[in-house]
Amino acid sequence: MSGPNTDFDPVEVAALKPEEVEAARDAALAAIAGAADLDALKKVRIEHTGDRSPLALANREIGALPPAARKEAGQRVGQARGAVQQALAARQAELQAEHEQRMLAEETVDVTLPTDRLPTGARHPVTTGSELIADIFVAMGWEVAEGPVLEAEWLNFDALNLGPDHPARTMQDTFWTDPAEDHLVLRTHTSPVQARTMLAQQPPIYVVCPGRVFRTDEYDATHSPVFHQVEGLAVDKGISMAHLKGTLDHFAASMFGEGINTRFRPSYFPFTEPSAEVDLVCFVCRGVDPDDCRTCRGEGWIEWGGCGVVNPRVLRACGIDPDTYSGFAFGMGIDRTLMFRHGIEDLRALFEGDVRFTAAFGAEL
Ligand code: PHE
Repeated sequence: MSGPNTDFDPVEVAALKPEEVEAARDAALAAIAGAADLDALKKVRIEHTGDRSPLALANREIGALPPAARKEAGQRVGQARGAVQQALAARQAELQAEHEQRMLAEETVDVTLPTDRLPTGARHPVTTGSELIADIFVAMGWEVAEGPVLEAEWLNFDALNLGPDHPARTMQDTFWTDPAEDHLVLRTHTSPVQARTMLAQQPPIYVVCPGRVFRTDEYDATHSPVFHQVEGLAVDKGISMAHLKGTLDHFAASMFGEGINTRFRPSYFPFTEPSAEVDLVCFVCRGVDPDDCRTCRGEGWIEWGGCGVVNPRVLRACGIDPDTYSGFAFGMGIDRTLMFRHGIEDLRALFEGDVRFTAAFGAEL
């Protein structure tokens, strides 16, 4: 029978040798100190304190020792494991604090910064359309002119050969303003800008004037008491109706595409002589087999505006010698032009400010 193995020397068990235990502890402490973040520390903990770690193995060996040897070996391994646990806890606290500091810094919100929550505006299609038209003329060397919407009666009518008793005055359903003796009107067309330009400068004159105009019209799908016109005026030596036709053909092709030209129908305006209504080749059926075309209703042509050779009486009223100079003028509805161009069926869409409409036809700023 063998008695208790009192001679057993624990130092002889490899895993319990003091230098082995020390080496395992030092390796654990070094790994702990070297763990750069919480994830790395987690791996270190498993590796150095987990079931398969050298110190856990050493701890298990203690049980196999004779009672007399257990105390000393247990102390040694216990101290090493305690040191490792302490170091782990300290490093854990350190890394946790570092992590929190970093999160605080990274997630800082500057509540004073301006927000970008307001939706970006869109420019109104009438604005972008007017600019497009003006650009077509600027590209030909013309200038853009503007005038006030509250206009002198004399410039809106008299200077344009529309004297007080002229029957054509009643054709333009005018908004008169109070008091009557101020003789101011909301301009009924952009033609007073012609008069203003001629009064301000001698020829050569090549100006295009887009702007808002007013008439006492009903408000429906094709009429509005406020709408937009673009006026063109050229005054120079030897200007004829042929220049007018060529200019309008170029304007039409630039707006609606190559091949869309114009035709003139005789008409009457007091400020031009001769005068014409301008029609546009229907840009949908292109005048080819128009019978089924809903846009031009079988005409092949669409009414676009008025034009003519500037009446010499207008030139004279505006200080330009009609024996030396001649000119042409034209006026189109911008809204109508845009309706054609974009297939807008109801004029009111241009005036009601629905952002879905302006966003679809306007340009983002
Ligand atoms: N001013 C005219 C209108 O509003 C249009 C026009 C302009 C006609 C220039 C001829 C020349 O009806």
